[in-house]
Amino acid sequence: MEKLLIQGGRVLEGRIQISGAKNSAVALIPAALLAETEVELENVPQIRDVDVYTELLRELNVGVRRSGNKMCIDPRTLSSCTIPNGKVKQLRASYYLMGALLGKCGEALVGLPGGCNLGPRPIDQHVKGFAALGARVENHKGALRLYAKELRGARIYLDVVSVGATINIMLAAARAKGQTIIENAAKEPEIVDVATLLNTMGADIKGAGTDVIRINGVDKLYGCRHAIIPDRIEAGTYMIAAAATAGDVWIDHVIPKHLEPVTAKLREMGVTAEEEDEAIHVVGRERYKPVDIKTLPYPGFPTDLQQPITSLLSLASGTSIVTDNIYHSRFKHVDELRRMGANIRVEGRSAVIEGRSSLYGTRVKAPDLRAGAALVIAALTAEGITEISGLDHIVRGYERLEEKLRALGAKTSIETEGTRWKEA
Ligand code: EPU
Repeated sequence: MEKLLIQGGRVLEGRIQISGAKNSAVALIPAALLAETEVELENVPQIRDVDVYTELLRELNVGVRRSGNKMCIDPRTLSSCTIPNGKVKQLRASYYLMGALLGKCGEALVGLPGGCNLGPRPIDQHVKGFAALGARVENHKGALRLYAKELRGARIYLDVVSVGATINIMLAAARAKGQTIIENAAKEPEIVDVATLLNTMGADIKGAGTDVIRINGVDKLYGCRHAIIPDRIEAGTYMIAAAATAGDVWIDHVIPKHLEPVTAKLREMGVTAEEEDEAIHVVGRERYKPVDIKTLPYPGFPTDLQQPITSLLSLASGTSIVTDNIYHSRFKHVDELRRMGANIRVEGRSAVIEGRSSLYGTRVKAPDLRAGAALVIAALTAEGITEISGLDHIVRGYERLEEKLRALGAKTSIETEGTRWKEA
């Protein structure tokens, strides 16, 4: 079992290049199945979730070639729409195979998804969308069986704003007969990225990025080339890490607009954050003001940065309250941060963080991806060495995390069983 060791107390300085967005990649890869010819994706992050998706496509006999951050997907050899068990359960985003295979083949059998355990994560809105498009949807031994003689456009109102349901309905509707209208759609940049790829493939989708998306079904979609947008959550994680270490870091290859809710909160705390065309320059300081944060769908503060920013708020001069309105029990990081000396309590869907904590290194375990990021940030500021296990969660979503941190001056090391801490 690998562990990440971090010696705290180093100030992060320098420039960091942000990778392609995980939550775009895991939707664009299945979207490519809808094409008649090869799709080439650029800026694909080299993370575990993408590796798992690659394996899933190969199980369906799809041709996948990867070289660095490029991925070519050739759906011409797709030979099955059935993937009920196995790797499909390891990945939340495997649910996009439902929309993509239904749209491509008119039928699919896809295992119900796994992923981070953040409390209940239903997919009723996905199912409502598929059914509205004319699909028969049945539960079949832990998998969802979908079948439609012909998918027909429909007007679908989402009862909850859902990234996954919005994308899945776009995938299924892109080649349906007639017009589909998604109302109360999610507006995340990753949704715009998926619509951009589908439109480049020949689809007719308007309104992505607003709460009403109109999809006019087309007969065929074709191969193309597309570059994935930068990962706003990875960028936000490094912005918070820079602030936490009173550092001076240029976050390169970002779309600053996508980070506005994060930049605004950091500035409210007293962090200096200057935006350039494709970069944000973050300069931290020793003392920060406490702030309250409520997570909301985009353009609100992202739930995926709720855990990382909690570590920073532990250092602020006063009490902050972080409320997660998306996942009401996404607080598994709190117990681990408390082991490091943080003073945090969970009240309902909020974490109450008493600041001015002096964190110290100890052994902690990443219980999920973003909780892992929160522990990394805490470790960077802690006195002594923090040993973080559960690395398998972190590598799901952060490309070359240890290497990137070291390049900024962090003192880190990966310990596999039998090896010991080496001076970095
Ligand atoms: N919801 C329902 N019914 C549904 C779908 C969602 O009740 O059919 C609820 C969820 O339980 C949640 C809320 O609606 O309370 C929003 O969920 P959403 O569907 O938007 O989440 P998701 O698509 O499953 C994506 C990201 C998550 C991110 C959320 C919110 C991917 C693969 N995952 O999940 O990313 O937290 O949107 O922004 O895109 C992460 O990267 O660490 C991560 C968990």
